[in-house]
Amino acid sequence: MSSTRTQVGIIGAGPSGLLLSQLLHLQGIDSVVLERRSADYVLGRVRAGVLEQGMVDMLREAQCADRMDKEGLVHEGFEITFGERRHRIDLKKHTGSTVMVYGQTEVTKDLMDAREKMGGTVIYDAENVAIEDLNSDTPKLTYQKDGQTHEVICDYIAGCDGFHGVSRKSMPEKLLKEHERVYPFGWLGILSETRPVSEELIYVNHWRGFALCSMRSMTRSRYYIQCAFDEDLEEWTDDRFWDELRVRLPDEAAETIEMGPSIEKSIAPLRSFVAEPMRHGRLFLAGDAAHIVPPTGAKGLNLAASDIYYLSRALIGFYKEGREDLIDSYSENCLRRVWKAERFSWWFTNIMHRFPEQSSFDRGCQIAELDYLCGSNAAQEAFAENYVGLPF
Ligand code: APR
Ligand code: PHB
Repeated sequence: MSSTRTQVGIIGAGPSGLLLSQLLHLQGIDSVVLERRSADYVLGRVRAGVLEQGMVDMLREAQCADRMDKEGLVHEGFEITFGERRHRIDLKKHTGSTVMVYGQTEVTKDLMDAREKMGGTVIYDAENVAIEDLNSDTPKLTYQKDGQTHEVICDYIAGCDGFHGVSRKSMPEKLLKEHERVYPFGWLGILSETRPVSEELIYVNHWRGFALCSMRSMTRSRYYIQCAFDEDLEEWTDDRFWDELRVRLPDEAAETIEMGPSIEKSIAPLRSFVAEPMRHGRLFLAGDAAHIVPPTGAKGLNLAASDIYYLSRALIGFYKEGREDLIDSYSENCLRRVWKAERFSWWFTNIMHRFPEQSSFDRGCQIAELDYLCGSNAAQEAFAENYVGLPF
């Protein structure tokens, strides 16, 4: 068995793990990232596309924001439509802030490239990663690769391994409290090399179901329609998708949308999930390993960023100043912001989607909430400050 010593062992080479590794490296702190998949597989996953200012700032701090600053699209607002109504939420007016439209795949690629350029240790195809000696001062990660068993002895372990990872399962069962809501529908999404139907995002509440018009650039569009959670992807040809999307869009958008072949098509389930606490001894949970939000509020990637903000500061404080206070307050600091984003994502999902068991009263309240939002400056200001991201 090969044995390596590092300061921080990181499980997962998604945005959380790579961003943490990069920020620690820039402060002279050594880490090893273990990823069970290949780099190509990680980059093949199509995920979110809207970055809060806090995430943008973190990528600039991590010295991997050049391509984002060149190719990203700064958005000052977006539209909400319901019935015949179309209303623009002016983020800039209400908050003075904006969001950056730039795909998570691109963020991950920029982080991967930065890690490689700076000689980072990111080990792909690391199988059966396991956490051992967690209650000792030198916990370790073991894994298999190329038929060999390896160990990485660490001071601390960051579980950045997503919802299905090993780190949350390594927390003591009696300590962990999990909170969950599963939604009775999913999102069917496509990516197409077409001009986006609008320069800004359009969130649609339609009686047939939710729809979203988003983008990755001005030549690559990302569209979603709400679908049954057990929908069969094989039954959704491109034509059927475009027809259903256009039924749900406002007339002008339905008439002008550019359609084309999908280059990616997938169905995502919607869930709200929080695991508490996010730390046990020398193990920290970050990102999707600790929480999941429905994509409606575009919070998943951005919550990963705020976790890594708190975790990087806690570890840097420890190694550079011998501080343990930020390590001790890590879980509480993360969860205060996580729960606010969970609430916002749950609320926005509730007012934008058609629920199978929805009564006429429920529908009336949903439309009234949207009518109030679009008619009240105060409501839009509260909405906008949650959408652009609450302070870290
Ligand atoms: N061993 C090693 N790696 C693992 C293991 C394991 N046992 N389990 C999972 N992984 C890897 C996954 O292959 C993935 O690359 O951990 C990584 C976790 O990455 P994400 O799931 O992207 O989670 P995170 O980095 O927290 O980013 C959150 O990603 O899933 C989206 O919507 C989510 O936008 C949010 C963002
Ligand atoms: C996306 O572009 O994938 C996207 C944008 C906004 C959301 C969700 C997803 O709220």
